[in-house]
Amino acid sequence: MKIQIINGPNLNLLGVREPTIYGDAGFDPFFECLCKDYPEVEINYFQSNVEGFMIDKMHEVGFSADGIILNAGAYTHTSIALHDAIKAVKAPVVEVHISNVFVREEFRHHSMISSACFGVICGFGLEGYRLALEALLKRSQAK
Ligand code: DQA
Repeated sequence: MKIQIINGPNLNLLGVREPTIYGDAGFDPFFECLCKDYPEVEINYFQSNVEGFMIDKMHEVGFSADGIILNAGAYTHTSIALHDAIKAVKAPVVEVHISNVFVREEFRHHSMISSACFGVICGFGLEGYRLALEALLKRSQAK
């Protein structure tokens, strides 16, 4: 089982950026724990602030990975290109948001990518990535 996590813009600043919204933990220690908790799963992590690099990564892994966990950051609300990339690849994609985007500014209420995704998880902090992983594992076991 091979899962790719892709984090988009500003998510390299987790732990520093707006901690009241995103928490004060960085992504790296969380990722380390996740890998330890799922030794049977190969979990890879990629972060970029550049939309095109995220799309390149989707193309690179999207035909061999069993699933992609995507937090597209603000590109969620704007990117038709990411929507198309999700549709173009074979791997199911779970959209994740650390914060509950629906209790925040109105411009965060619409996602350009949800309709292309296998599922959406938001508002559970970093635990959302684990929930997405569980969903992808269950999906692959059901097949
Ligand atoms: C986010 C929510 C987005 O609206 C925001 O632009 C982000 C992070 C989240 O994880 O809650 O950068 O995707």
